[in-house]
Amino acid sequence: MDTRVMDHEHGYGLASRFFHWSMFLLLLWQITSAVLHYALDDTAITDFFFGFHFSNGVLILVLAVLRGAWGLLNLSRRPSHAGALNRLAALGHVAMYLLLIAVPVVAIIRAYGSTRPFSALGIDIFASRANEIAWMTDLGGAWHGFLGWTLFALIAGHIAMAFMHTYAWKEPLIARMTKGDELG
Ligand code: HEM
Repeated sequence: MDTRVMDHEHGYGLASRFFHWSMFLLLLWQITSAVLHYALDDTAITDFFFGFHFSNGVLILVLAVLRGAWGLLNLSRRPSHAGALNRLAALGHVAMYLLLIAVPVVAIIRAYGSTRPFSALGIDIFASRANEIAWMTDLGGAWHGFLGWTLFALIAGHIAMAFMHTYAWKEPLIARMTKGDELG
């Protein structure tokens, strides 16, 4: 296993791998809670998983901002994305970063505009308000779920492409994010 902290030409360093796999686990929870909310509302299992949806979502937002900053800091060191397909992949990665930020932000704006108090990660973030701010609740109502499902679809494509590269085209790209070095 490669133990360099910063990213390099043949793989991702320890910090990027920590961000990638911790967010993988948090997003697995988030998609489980969203699917249950959509398909099995008002059940004990949904209450359990969706009970952490807000805190988990806020944690994903914090990690996405830190991960984005770390990515920019490492941009010139990372494996190159030259060539048409690689550039498309880079565009997909940017879209995922933007959605990882937009999806929770839109939900937090909705929470701010609603009459209910909002807390996450054990911290009281907004108190209740007397009157709803309609544009804020409408924004979240219109976009949060839609953008959330779009993000999950992009993630599914991202996983499928990582497997295609590695097993169909024999480019050991998954190793960049597991062992940290595609050369072995
Ligand atoms: C990256 C983080 C997040 C993702 C990927 C995500 C994804 C989703 C998805 C896909 C749904 C739709 C479920 C359905 O159709 O029934 C949903 C619902 C919901 N989410 Fe999130 N969410 C995130 C963060 C948050 C945060 C931070 C909050 C609170 C501020 C929140 C509050 C809600 C609420 C109240 C609903 C139910 C109403 C609705 O469907 O819009 N979410 N979420």
